Amino acid sequence: MSELHVIDHPLITHKLSIMRNEKTGSKDFRELLEEIAMLMGYELTRDLPLKDVTIDTPLTKMKAKMISGKKLAIVPILRAGLGMVDGLQSLIPVAKVGHIGLYRDPTTHLPVEYYCKLPPDISERIVILVDPMLATGGSAVDALNLLKKKGCAHIRFMCLVAAPEGVAKVQEAHPDVDIYTAALDDHLNEHAYIVPGLGDAGDRIFGTL
Ligand code: PRP
Ligand code: URA
Repeated sequence: MSELHVIDHPLITHKLSIMRNEKTGSKDFRELLEEIAMLMGYELTRDLPLKDVTIDTPLTKMKAKMISGKKLAIVPILRAGLGMVDGLQSLIPVAKVGHIGLYRDPTTHLPVEYYCKLPPDISERIVILVDPMLATGGSAVDALNLLKKKGCAHIRFMCLVAAPEGVAKVQEAHPDVDIYTAALDDHLNEHAYIVPGLGDAGDRIFGTL
């Protein structure tokens, strides 16, 4: 069963509260999202396997440890997921980046795919799928379906704010995918927006309100 990890570190919680405030402008919103993505990335990569290597320090030979195993890929769901890429890439500079473009139809709230470009070796990588908002879960489920069609078997989903409805939908459709979020909010409103949430993440990042 997919695990839900709510990463409630005080720094993350504090920064998220500033992001939620309607008075916070795009520049601060973007910077905070990048910082939180980096802090969450630290937790999300905690279980990466290590291997023994021998290195020469300036003083002596030593057995040291380095990350082993599969390489990583970061895949943002456009647009808002883009705001989490730089923070993660600063932690994992060798990760490749793919892009999945989805928007929610304003009437049906169902995701519509408009773009997909992934690294050719994506199926061999651990994929971190990122999107700040997990609302109905439709976008995350579609993006995960797409990644699995391309052969991906090791995927983690990272968001900033999740609604219980979205968590349930992802867990039901993709029980093998762990979800990492900075907050689990209360519910969705009649427009499928997360309450209390932070509004439209894409619009707040790119100033298209
Ligand atoms: C937002 C958000 C997610 C999606 C979440 O994107 O970034 O992708 O909604 O909603 P869901 O869980 O109900 O699918 P949006 O469709 O507004 O597109 P944008 O990022 O281009 O603004
Ligand atoms: N997408 C957003 O950007 N915000 C929400 O609350 C729900 C979907």
